[in-house]
Amino acid sequence: MAALEALFDAAKQARMRAYAPYSRFLVGAAVLSEDGAVHAGCNVENAAYPVGTCAEAGAIAAMIASGARRIAEILIIGDGPELVTPCGACRQRIREFADGSIPVHIADMNGVRRTFSLDSLLPFSFGPDNLPTA
Ligand code: THU
Repeated sequence: MAALEALFDAAKQARMRAYAPYSRFLVGAAVLSEDGAVHAGCNVENAAYPVGTCAEAGAIAAMIASGARRIAEILIIGDGPELVTPCGACRQRIREFADGSIPVHIADMNGVRRTFSLDSLLPFSFGPDNLPTA
């Protein structure tokens, strides 16, 4: 299966398992790590609203738990007329493990609607290389 198709299927399946009783806005995400594996996540809300986590955070946590460290591509899926682009915090979460050139695919139930480079979503970003070495 092509990588993009695998990402789409994994993110769509994770989205169906999202826990979003408060917003009722289900989001799925899937990361392709540089080793070729796919890691999925969904949003997990909480009665204490700010404690909820985004789908991207879940997918990245799954990638890290698998032992992989670099994101080659990411796909985010949500429903509605507007593109479900990653929130600002998630752009930074992705940046920690990705080059600015990686594709960030934004999908709805029918497929990918747009693809952005991470750089275009988070220009002049601050990443691990911006920290002075010890
Ligand atoms: N959400 C995500 O999981 N990822 C995004 O990229 C945008 C927003 C979630 C957070 C919250 O559970 C719900 O969508 C509504 O904001």
